[in-house]
Amino acid sequence: MGATAVIGAQWGDEAKGKIVHHLCRRARMCVRFNGGANAGHTVEDGRGTVRLHLVPCGALHPGCQGVIGHGVTVDPWVLADELGGILAQGRSHPELLLSERAHLVLPHHRLLEEREGTAQRIGTTRRGVGPCYTDRAARRGLRLADLIDERQVREHLRAASRVAGGGFDPEQVVEDLLRFRDRFAAHIGDARAAIAGALERGEEVVFEGAQGTLLDLDCGTYPYVTSSTTTVHGIGWGTGVPTARVERVVGVTKAYTTRVGEGPFPTEEGGEIGERLRAEGGEYGATTGRPRRCGWLDLVALRYAHAVNAFTDLALTKLDVLSGLREIRVAVDYRIEGQRVTGFPPRAEDLARAEPVYEVLRGWEEDIAGIRDYEALPSAARRFVRFVEAQVGVPVTFIGTGPGEEAIIVRRRG
Ligand code: IMP
Repeated sequence: MGATAVIGAQWGDEAKGKIVHHLCRRARMCVRFNGGANAGHTVEDGRGTVRLHLVPCGALHPGCQGVIGHGVTVDPWVLADELGGILAQGRSHPELLLSERAHLVLPHHRLLEEREGTAQRIGTTRRGVGPCYTDRAARRGLRLADLIDERQVREHLRAASRVAGGGFDPEQVVEDLLRFRDRFAAHIGDARAAIAGALERGEEVVFEGAQGTLLDLDCGTYPYVTSSTTTVHGIGWGTGVPTARVERVVGVTKAYTTRVGEGPFPTEEGGEIGERLRAEGGEYGATTGRPRRCGWLDLVALRYAHAVNAFTDLALTKLDVLSGLREIRVAVDYRIEGQRVTGFPPRAEDLARAEPVYEVLRGWEEDIAGIRDYEALPSAARRFVRFVEAQVGVPVTFIGTGPGEEAIIVRRRG
């Protein structure tokens, strides 16, 4: 089946991990191309719940290699911890390949994120990801390939310590990095060539996006965004493999909307509805534990995400969370200062003033948790799905009906 991309269509946390895990049952490779340990992908399978930050979700399947492309910022301490957690659950060691061109997140990146105030202003995940991408763009970063040269590593850390004004022991960090290099030596290499080779052999490759389209550095709600390319375009950017090789682009959206951190969110519901969605959906950040802001599904934003990514399929997740609501609202347009707006405004200031124009759909009482057959959904739930399809112009191929890996409806192909 070639290459499939799984892309967040909202502000992240769309339950991409579940969809990726499902799609990787038969895949040879699962590739991360953007973000870093700011991502939090939750997978719930027969062995328990795992929260992954750097290890690609598909790599939990034996036979599926987890590949970390050069667009990913790699925090070696987080990666080592994460692998420890996976092994502690009795799982086998995931097969991993890390791009030698990927940049390292170092202790001064986290310190700078706090000191420069970005953490507070944007409401970041405080993982040092933004400052690491800053160093990369400023051409002063340290890459996995550089770990080969001990002297360079030592000089880099001494300079970083001076820039950060202390706060960590550079010699200890050098020691940790060299230990990491020795442990992972066999897993650091040419990820681009490995992905290209798999595609050449006709093997199935799944690209796992982190964060979502509305957090993209350029296409998102700037400046309240992350520092990487979170859209389908991030595949070429973050792996060196042409994005044109991707045949299928699955956009993942929840049946409602959430956001963590600062920034505009037109359909946010502060009151009872927001609290209910948070409680029913377990809407707390997988990386930071922060309560997520919750609100109705926003089709203006979803149509925009489709325009950016050209989705071939949609995955509509967490549909079960809407059960029991008498009516369900869906934003179909915005109104900004009395004017009806159908497009997604480029300025956060304008988006902050946008009032959603809602279409009100009938809800359903039935508990739909764990349903796997589309026809078994209540008619009001099917009407909701059809409404989304018609508004966005993309078929809903996957529907999430609960947190477990089995709680999924797969329509047509998949
Ligand atoms: P950073 O990526 O830590 O720099 O944070 C920038 C913005 O992206 C903040 O609003 C974060 O809450 C948000 N963000 C980063 N990663 C994720 C994610 O995986 N899910 C949801 N939001 C995220």
